[in-house]
Amino acid sequence: MLFSVVVLLLLLSCTSGENPAIQVILTNKGLQYGKHAGAGWVQEQLGSVTVPDLSGDIGVLIGSIHYTLTGIKITQCDFPEPSLEFFQDATGFKASLSGLSVALTGQWKTDYGIIHDRGTFEVAIFKVDLLSVVELGRDPDGRLSVSSIHCEVQVEDVNIQVHGGASWIVQPIVDHFHSRIRADIEAGICPWLEDAIVDLELHLQALNVSFDVGEFLSLELPLSSSPLVNASALNLGLKGEFYSVKTHTEPPFEAQPFTMPPQPGYMLSVGLSEFTLNSASYGCFSSGLLQALIDDSMIPPGSPVRLNTTSMGRFIPQLLTMFPDLLMKLQVYAREAPMFSFQPEAGKLSMMGAVKAFAVFPNGTQTPLFTLHSDSLFSGKMWIGGGRVKGSMKMDNLTLNLASSEVGQFSTDSLKNMLEMAMKMLVLPKINKILSNGTDLPRMKYGRLVNSVLKMEEGFIAVSSDAKVFLTG
Ligand SMILES: *[C@@H]1O[C@H](CO)[C@@H](O)[C@H](O)[C@H]1NC(C)=O
Ligand SMILES: *[C@@H]1O[C@H](CO)[C@@H](O)[C@H](O)[C@H]1NC(C)=O
Ligand SMILES: *[C@@H]1O[C@H](CO)[C@@H](O)[C@H](O)[C@H]1NC(C)=O
Ligand SMILES: *[C@@H]1O[C@H](CO)[C@@H](O)[C@H](O)[C@H]1NC(C)=O
Ligand SMILES: *[C@@H]1O[C@H](CO)[C@@H](O)[C@H](O)[C@H]1NC(C)=O
Ligand SMILES: *[C@@H]1O[C@H](CO)[C@@H](O)[C@H](O)[C@H]1NC(C)=O
Repeated sequence: MLFSVVVLLLLLSCTSGENPAIQVILTNKGLQYGKHAGAGWVQEQLGSVTVPDLSGDIGVLIGSIHYTLTGIKITQCDFPEPSLEFFQDATGFKASLSGLSVALTGQWKTDYGIIHDRGTFEVAIFKVDLLSVVELGRDPDGRLSVSSIHCEVQVEDVNIQVHGGASWIVQPIVDHFHSRIRADIEAGICPWLEDAIVDLELHLQALNVSFDVGEFLSLELPLSSSPLVNASALNLGLKGEFYSVKTHTEPPFEAQPFTMPPQPGYMLSVGLSEFTLNSASYGCFSSGLLQALIDDSMIPPGSPVRLNTTSMGRFIPQLLTMFPDLLMKLQVYAREAPMFSFQPEAGKLSMMGAVKAFAVFPNGTQTPLFTLHSDSLFSGKMWIGGGRVKGSMKMDNLTLNLASSEVGQFSTDSLKNMLEMAMKMLVLPKINKILSNGTDLPRMKYGRLVNSVLKMEEGFIAVSSDAKVFLTG
């Protein structure tokens, strides 16, 4: 059952004192769902579980008998639904199981000097009560760590029947050692459970906390502080910062703290701050990705405006006389990293761009004409529909200023109008078509998100969701 919870956590965190830019909250609803799925999985595994062979020596009056138990199989198991809760005192989970009963069969073999004997046995272990407390933490590299801090087991009774061979001798011996066997079984359960948790911890330590996203960016997702646990939720704060693979420079802005509204009706919530998006934007900017060269061949064939001095002469008359009938090239680039900001119900994107224009002589030589600064402000919405994240955006404002010119002053008003029209009629409809088609919610190996909702808040986006895990089947 604990296993299932940690699987759930692993699914969520694909995954230094800073504010977390991504928060992942597992609610009690999610915990109970995870536990139920995990318990079903455990029950399904029980049929195929292989119990290791056991051997040992029993001291009797006349020396010691060596015994081996092999081919042990679980024939029946009453596996009551365990209980699992958040445990604030230990920053972790408390799991308990009450009334587990197991029946096993197998072969026994004894060696006493040169006397060998064999047969079969049946063991019934009645009413096992188990209490386990597991603590969550953060290791120095920011990985989630898990450790067992308390384990308590009580086995009420054990019944052993032996058959075959000299079982008329063996059975009384077994009966004689009945309470020791019960105690041995009891003592073996916690170490076994603790080993399983150590295995899980090794698994967690092997997880990456940094992922390459495409060719140019990496996303760092270490825990930014220890996990927070209260009676109703587990909250993991992740760094959630993108870096340029090439430069790995810190952006000139920091993650701001944010508080996720509690959503107990959903299994989990993920909060994504504008910092995460802005760090990605800054990563692209500092990698030099936010620039492009535009020439006439890239202008749609039907466009009434061409990228040549004749066509542009309509807006900048001196081009007609100074550089008649030449093709032009535009170097478009971001002056600063585009910045996102999230407000309730709407997001804003501000872009500070520049356009450097050149005339191209027939011999290929280019000569600079002018540089424009173009600042634009967009607003957009995001939502989840049909299991996909969708959006729409519009342009709120555009300004165009002449930053420098090799051809003298000119008014940018008519250029601005043309640019505005091109944005509204050509560019934005294309972008909105892609945004309204949307993109799938992240898929996970052992589950998928269902009933997801997205809400934009001050400084962050909150996605609350239920999940369906496929541990069984
Ligand atoms: C972790 O990252 C390294 C390097 O990026 C990669 O080689 C390795 O396969 C990753 N491990 C896992 C478990 O994703
Ligand atoms: C428990 O933690 C969650 C997530 O951090 C938070 O939303 C909720 O308000 C907390 N509940 C209490 C009772 O403190
Ligand atoms: C420039 O564009 C005009 C249309 O506006 C076109 O008639 C002319 O041929 C173009 N000139 C060059 C050099 O491409
Ligand atoms: C290309 O042509 C332009 C204009 O005719 C001239 O000024 C320039 O020197 C030429 N460049 C080369 C490399 O020939
Ligand atoms: C557009 O931006 C300019 C310059 O920043 C500002 O003066 C103007 O008020 C803005 N217009 C709108 C509609 O926001
Ligand atoms: C919508 O997205 C899907 C997959 O993401 C893609 O296959 C499809 O071509 C897209 N449709 C449009 C109209 O963009």
